[in-house]
Amino acid sequence: MIPESFIQDLLTRIDIVDLIDRYVHLKKAGANYIACCPFHSEKTPSFSVSPSKQFYYCFGCGAHGTAISFLMEYQGLGFVEAIRELASSIGVAVPDERHDGDSSQKRETLRDLLEVMARARDFYREALKKSEKAVNYLKERGLSGETAARFGIGYAPEGWNSLKAAFPDSYDYQQLLTVGLVLESEEGRRYDRFRDRIIFPIINSKGETIGFGGRVIGQGEPKYLNSPETPLFEKGRELFGLPQARQTLRAENRAIVVEGYMDVVALAEHGVGNALATLGTATTREHAQKLLRQVDAVVFCFDGDNAGRKAAWRALENTLDSLTEQKSVSFTFLPEAEDPDSFIRKKGKKAFDNLIREAAPLSSFLINELKKQCDLTSAEGRARLVADAKPLLLRLSTPFLRLQLVKQLAAESGFSQAEVERLCGIQSYAPKPPLAKPKRSAPSLARTLARLALQRPALAGRIPLELLPPSEERAILEVILTNLPRLPSAPTYAQLREQLRGHPLEAEFNILAGEWMQLQLAEDKIEHEFLDALTRLQENKRKSEFADLQKKASQFGITGLTAEEKEHYKASAGKNRSDPYR
Ligand code: GTP
Ligand code: MN
Repeated sequence: MIPESFIQDLLTRIDIVDLIDRYVHLKKAGANYIACCPFHSEKTPSFSVSPSKQFYYCFGCGAHGTAISFLMEYQGLGFVEAIRELASSIGVAVPDERHDGDSSQKRETLRDLLEVMARARDFYREALKKSEKAVNYLKERGLSGETAARFGIGYAPEGWNSLKAAFPDSYDYQQLLTVGLVLESEEGRRYDRFRDRIIFPIINSKGETIGFGGRVIGQGEPKYLNSPETPLFEKGRELFGLPQARQTLRAENRAIVVEGYMDVVALAEHGVGNALATLGTATTREHAQKLLRQVDAVVFCFDGDNAGRKAAWRALENTLDSLTEQKSVSFTFLPEAEDPDSFIRKKGKKAFDNLIREAAPLSSFLINELKKQCDLTSAEGRARLVADAKPLLLRLSTPFLRLQLVKQLAAESGFSQAEVERLCGIQSYAPKPPLAKPKRSAPSLARTLARLALQRPALAGRIPLELLPPSEERAILEVILTNLPRLPSAPTYAQLREQLRGHPLEAEFNILAGEWMQLQLAEDKIEHEFLDALTRLQENKRKSEFADLQKKASQFGITGLTAEEKEHYKASAGKNRSDPYR
């Protein structure tokens, strides 16, 4: 847990325009900045960044958020990672509540460990140039020097302690043990993990080397050795080839997931730049999430054998949670005894592109695999089909796709659609309103106030909330009001929004934010509009009180009013044109 106050402080200190401009070239347009949206492909800019609200919004695809969300979406980072990234961009350390006191100490060591990895990587890369044997092996496997350099491929020399040469003045066993580059035998003898192997550096999205994979040259066991899990390296989160693929991922909006290092590298060699590999592990939920945050289409391209099909099924299971209606996930399998590397070398890029194009969508892969397990000629088999599908359907958060699957399952099983839904415990679907649906009709006073208070949260403190009838907008204003004391003074919308990450009213906040981004109300008009709305609010109150008194007066006569009410009535009547006594 990172302290709230730290996040707020960070948002005060960074500027979203600077941040986004590092990745997407921004142009000034009025009070805001615009660019072609990095989250969908377009020719004219509809992506807008507001410096005063520290918020971005795309009028084309609805992408929106704070500096933190931008890093999460754009770089595929988790929340904490995004915070770290932002913090390090302004040179501050993230306090960690779990290890409070020693956190800067800890970061210090992480930085040291990364430095050790970088040194080792450079050492391996230099060693490759000196090893004819290693270079020949790579050539034999069809790799050009260019591709080898692109992936930073290296060579770990023979010998038990070659790596020492990489640290002439700073050899620190403890650090090398920690990052898994050196091992210790039972007798306490220390030796290099990677010896006489081709080295594939594993690089994270920040460009830091966090692990290595090492392949024997030619035959030998084990064929691959990987870095163990270390403070820098969590296998289940990392993908090999991510930084190298970034550009193509964005251009094609598609990622291809393969099984091996050599597959990624060989595909890149042949012009397929958007391939990535998991690191000798199954595809995890974190992988799926990371991928689907960055591209709209993911194709899993696995070997056609049993192991490949199993791997694909695991990938399917772990993708279900991250799937949205806009994303597509599909599966394709290589012909017998081929892998992507051998396939593209033999058949070329066109044939591989076809393989990818013909990938089976998740829905058909899912149904077909389930059908294989069930004998659909028997009642038991047809029942089992639906029973097996149930846990998968329930994990899907895509109601449209789920409905399609339900219909297919109904057709295959002989149940009716309603029966499948009932058996699986699926509610019939009611769609959520889309993001930032602009309201055509004049907004209510409460909505106007809520929009204004979002743009300048401090305004919420000046609204007499008791004058507003209960409504979604009033609830939103109440939430702002309760959170104000925990925010810096004069908070931006981004600061308010981050405070409310995960709040039940999140979706409503997003819709309102979309509305005011579309209205483009100038900064210096906000106060004026706000005062105007407050006046109307007071006026409404007066009118309704007057109407009440008028009703009472017409029922009981003017003498039926208390002295105070009479006073009030007269004062109010003076202002009211419809007053019959005027
Ligand atoms: P090449 O034989 O060099 O073409 O390798 P490949 O990339 O085709 O690898 P393969 O399909 O045999 O395996 C896929 C991935 O599984 C590799 O890239 C490794 O990450 C992992 N892997 C394969 N063999 C081993 C092994 O012996 N040990 C470990 N730890 N991982 C392995
Ligand atoms: Mn291979």
